[in-house]
Amino acid sequence: MIWIKLFIFFLLAFHVVLSERRCAQCVAGKYLSQRSLMQDSEAGQSMGWVEEWKITDCARGVIRFIPCKSACINVRLFKIGAAENTLEGVMHDCADDMIHSSPDLPQDIDFKEYSENAEFSNRRRNFNITYSFTMANVDNKELIQNEYSSFIMPSYKSEYTWNSIIIQIAFPVIVVSLFVALCCCAMYKECGMCRKSRKPFDPDTGDDLPVEDLEMAPVVRSELE
Ligand SMILES: *[C@@H]1O[C@H](CO)[C@@H](O)[C@H](O)[C@H]1NC(C)=O
Repeated sequence: MIWIKLFIFFLLAFHVVLSERRCAQCVAGKYLSQRSLMQDSEAGQSMGWVEEWKITDCARGVIRFIPCKSACINVRLFKIGAAENTLEGVMHDCADDMIHSSPDLPQDIDFKEYSENAEFSNRRRNFNITYSFTMANVDNKELIQNEYSSFIMPSYKSEYTWNSIIIQIAFPVIVVSLFVALCCCAMYKECGMCRKSRKPFDPDTGDDLPVEDLEMAPVVRSELE
């Protein structure tokens, strides 16, 4: 019984994960070099800086996907005076708890749990900073990658190698394999018990049945419990 409950629990957990909004999590261009712009406390800017960004690259399709309660956020940095199709840097993430305060955004809105479709932009230092929020899933790797193929971006030397491979591929595979192994183990155990209670026994003669007839032996319900 415990296994059935565990299985149902996993199904429910899986369902919750699936029904949440999925947002891309990645950076491209020189977003990571603009930390002083995006976390300029003197200007009143306070927003998150995510460790995982380092191992991503939106433009090359190295993107993580994460569940999100509020909107998905996309920040684009345009250098003022540069050609129109030039992007200095971009960031995609979940808006949950991301922006605590910003001089670039309306002051009367709580952006920590912003749940609307909207775009805001402001010029600060030498940049046009555009913030886009969307309530749609942002979970299409090819779409995101293609979006940035039309922009010229400063090349960003990503540090991803084994780290991103482990996080994006090996880890989920290990978790799923462990779960499958546990299920198999549980099923095997239950079947083992079934076999024990099904003694190869012929009720007419009282003789033991040959082993080949094991599957055909009548099963008395109460013996199984
Ligand atoms: C910033 O750039 C975007 C996209 O090019 C443009 O739509 C927006 O009007 C600009 N905002 C400012 C404040 O210059």
